[in-house]
Amino acid sequence: MTALAPGSTIGILGGGQLGRMTALAAGNLGYRCHIYAPEEESPAALVSAAWTRAAWDDQAALSAFAAKVDVITYEFENVPVACAEFLAPLKPLRPGVEALRVAQHREREKRFFERIGVPTAPFAVAQDEAGFVAAVRKVGTPSIAKTTTEGYDGKGQARLDASSDLAAIWAKLGRREVIVEGFVDFAAEASVIVARALDGSTVCFPPPRNVHRQGILHTSTIPGGFSPNIVRQAEDVGRRAIEALNSVGLLCVELFVTRDGRVLANEMAPRPHNSGHWTQDACATSQFEQFVRAVCGLPLGPVTVRSPVVMTNLIGDEANQWPAILEEPNAKLHLYGKREARTGRKMGHVNRLGAAAT
Ligand SMILES: Nc1ncnc2c1ncn2[C@@H]1O[C@H](COP(=O)(O)OP(=O)(O)OP(=O)(O)O)[C@@H](O)[C@H]1O
Ligand SMILES: [Mg+2]
Repeated sequence: MTALAPGSTIGILGGGQLGRMTALAAGNLGYRCHIYAPEEESPAALVSAAWTRAAWDDQAALSAFAAKVDVITYEFENVPVACAEFLAPLKPLRPGVEALRVAQHREREKRFFERIGVPTAPFAVAQDEAGFVAAVRKVGTPSIAKTTTEGYDGKGQARLDASSDLAAIWAKLGRREVIVEGFVDFAAEASVIVARALDGSTVCFPPPRNVHRQGILHTSTIPGGFSPNIVRQAEDVGRRAIEALNSVGLLCVELFVTRDGRVLANEMAPRPHNSGHWTQDACATSQFEQFVRAVCGLPLGPVTVRSPVVMTNLIGDEANQWPAILEEPNAKLHLYGKREARTGRKMGHVNRLGAAAT
């Protein structure tokens, strides 16, 4: 395995909090980070050695960026595939173009899971209003309609029941391609984060129990309290997915645990994931360090859990609670340095450690 020596530069596409926490972990291992992100404000750039602020299709800026870095990764799965394809011949791009292509389209993602033998909710895809009505009839209700691209934190989604006004929902979702998914009456939500090194070895973090509010992750709890059988199924999904993509890096698969003890895949992200933030304070290796290790060709770290933990997201003005959180003896606060606390915006998170937290 050819490891990138400390002092090398990691280029990160995307400038959000995941890039920020990756850059902080990279710094601890002696690497520098160079962020490429078009937005005016970048939480990642605030803690990185360099920042190129340019558009995803600015080939001159992309070439100059590639020339200055030793390896390229991304913290955002909606980086255009064309941008990744342009960069891939210039410098090693990990976890690669294929993971991006699959993760940024919900139908491709579902078909990928089907192909590798991982069950999902039943689904049908629609391109127009008549197709939408047919898709809802096929899948039945209750169900959820989601735009096939660009959704996050529950955006671009609508719940459907037998009395839904489908014409209004089709309009509300923007008259664009949607996927209709059967509503899974899950016992719990979980996620598996798996890392894969250059030599093909894999390591899975234990799956937390995730609770969402209004489509946004609220808490992730470790231990998740799942049976060994569920944990085995979750790890198997993670490993099969990252191996099928032939990725070097991290992959998170969001999971539904059914009442009859099965694990279904919801969606995936080829990068660190919000449900892995607990690892920063309660695991021998954080997901961000693991990501850096994988991308830089280092051996993967151990994933021993050091303490029970509950990770709680701080959304919008919840981040104003920071003074009280700092008073809690077992709480570790992480803020992303975003200026504006807009409603629904992820501003930070807190990891509460110890048995009392669970
Ligand atoms: N088919 C489904 N059955 C039951 N619940 C669902 C289904 N699809 C989504 N949900 C609920 O909505 C949440 C958000 O959905 P999903 O993960 O598809 O959206 P997202 O906008 O990509 O979210 P994020 O990027 O934050 O993970 C899920 O975690 C789950 O709680
Ligand atoms: Mg999700």
